[in-house]
Amino acid sequence: MSIQTELQNTIADLVVKGKGILAADESHPTMAKRFAAIKVESTEESRRVYRSLLLTTPDLCEFISGVILFEETLGQKTDSGKLLPAVVAENGMVPGIKVDKGTLPLANASGDLITQGLDGLAERLTGYKAQGARFAKWREVYSISPQNPTQLGIDANAEVLARYAAICQSLGIVPIVEPEVLLDGDHSIEYCFDVTEAVQRAVFHALYRHRVELEYVVLKPSMIVPGKAAQRQTNPEEIAEKTLAQLRRSVPAAMPGINFLSGGQTPEEATENLNAINALAENAPWELSFSYGRALQQPVLQAWQGKPENSKAAQDALYKRAKLNGAARYGNYLTEMEKQ
Ligand code: 13P
Repeated sequence: MSIQTELQNTIADLVVKGKGILAADESHPTMAKRFAAIKVESTEESRRVYRSLLLTTPDLCEFISGVILFEETLGQKTDSGKLLPAVVAENGMVPGIKVDKGTLPLANASGDLITQGLDGLAERLTGYKAQGARFAKWREVYSISPQNPTQLGIDANAEVLARYAAICQSLGIVPIVEPEVLLDGDHSIEYCFDVTEAVQRAVFHALYRHRVELEYVVLKPSMIVPGKAAQRQTNPEEIAEKTLAQLRRSVPAAMPGINFLSGGQTPEEATENLNAINALAENAPWELSFSYGRALQQPVLQAWQGKPENSKAAQDALYKRAKLNGAARYGNYLTEMEKQ
């Protein structure tokens, strides 16, 4: 199969009406934090058991088109000995892989960060592809403060994202490009708009410079929201209106899909906001969907508590969250549905 056809097929399987992406790609320190909250020790075995549970949830593919996995998961098996990426594919979803190696401070940029992992990326991707991964994810992170992000940080991060995306496409792997503007701070929603616009414009300039084909990229942005500690909080309608206005300014119509991260929003908020966005998005040129980690998994962890007897309840919690976000993809979610 040609590279072009591979990219086309993956986009067709990933960007599907009514469906979104499950992010299950937490690094070891992040997984340890999530498990600590339910008093479960994070070991290779406990992560295998938990992620097997997620990926074998019956009928998850009704609302989930793809799953982002962590490197370790690619080599892990279910109790019955089946490799987890194969389980994802057999259950009607596309296996993907987080390929960045986390952040370090960017020198001379007032505390801005830069994501590591470009060295040897092509070799790693070739290995991941052999293990079943058809798309990848890379996250750059921007915090908002009086001095951040700097122009240097915005430009350097954009360059790295574009280099990653170009390498992925050259190997027939669809890149998810994730520029995450963090929720922390007391900035206004207007300020979040301005920063996010600057960040995304730089990202799309860099993608253009590196000849990345936008038709085979998925954007994973943060929504336009006020800082967590901002005096004036807001409502889903304003978040939707500002998020769409910002995307319309920055994101070319050639992009097939935009899958938001949840970034610390509660599961209910993330669903409500996605719903408001889709309710307002008539004639938008892209599919507007989710690629949630915490907003899909928080209720699952709560239901599971590390106990095998809770597996069914945990899978039910995942199915429910996926279904509600599936409804939000059409703007059909109602808060009453939470009770069903
Ligand atoms: P959250 O939805 O928890 O923000 O995670 C999404 C993700 O993949 C971050 O890189």
